Amino acid sequence: MKVFSKISETTSFLQEQRNIGKTIGFVPTMGALHEGHLALMQQAKEENDLLVVSVFVNPIQFNKSSDLEKYPRNLEQDKKLLERVKCDILFAPTVEEMYPEPIIKEYDFGMLGKVMEGANRPGHFNGVAIVVKKLFDITIPNKAYFGEKDFQQLAIIKKLVAMEHLNLEIVPCPIVREFDGLAMSSRNERLTAQQRKNAPFIYKTLQQALKMTASKSVMEVKSWVENEFNSNDAFGLEYFEVGDAVDLQQVKDWKGTKNIMGFVVANMRNVRLIDNIRLFNNFADSNNG
Ligand code: PAF
Repeated sequence: MKVFSKISETTSFLQEQRNIGKTIGFVPTMGALHEGHLALMQQAKEENDLLVVSVFVNPIQFNKSSDLEKYPRNLEQDKKLLERVKCDILFAPTVEEMYPEPIIKEYDFGMLGKVMEGANRPGHFNGVAIVVKKLFDITIPNKAYFGEKDFQQLAIIKKLVAMEHLNLEIVPCPIVREFDGLAMSSRNERLTAQQRKNAPFIYKTLQQALKMTASKSVMEVKSWVENEFNSNDAFGLEYFEVGDAVDLQQVKDWKGTKNIMGFVVANMRNVRLIDNIRLFNNFADSNNG
């Protein structure tokens, strides 16, 4: 595996590779790699000649400095995992290398950027879009891989690609879960043993919500989920939203679309956990939603 920290050496090496006809699969990460990341990388490895991974904890996408400080970092351990999936190129720049000058760019993703994470973490998606665009410009991949756990991020990145007319394919990859259903996340490392024991409650509640869609209205399902979280001391519910899978705007009944999702963010003290589920509505005609 080649390890680069400089933009210039990365772009020139990858340019040579493109010149000899190699295709590039890119997985951007903030490190603290887990099986969820490795699944994206395995897919990228299978579908492209070269697997390029970036590890960069992007300061401008954190709207709370405490969250940035606490974000887990372990580049040596990450390198071992990257060797395991036969990563070809690791790009691990410093903050100064990525942002030598003040950042002024402001993206407007319309309503897509105004709900859920966009509303609750001001500036977050602008920071994500700036770094992802920059990483795409450096690596110029044929395909880039993103997990569906951060479903809204994925939608924002697809929109970024369209807005910037970028010539690459965004490949969405399903959520990878622990044996007990907890969505894999770098943040899980920060859970205490007791919090880790309680955390699968998030996905269990989403699964129960999915079952309820057969007989309950959107509002009933939403209130039930909110109640479940609010009566569990281990969690502080930030939001549970039922939204369209494409534009992510809230839906009020099950009719009219098959692709409805449930999106949740819950805090376990200072660890913020995100998850989602497809709430397929198979009973559109009998459900008065
Ligand atoms: O999902 C992440 O890990 C980050 O938001 C990303 C896409 C690597 C940008 O920093």
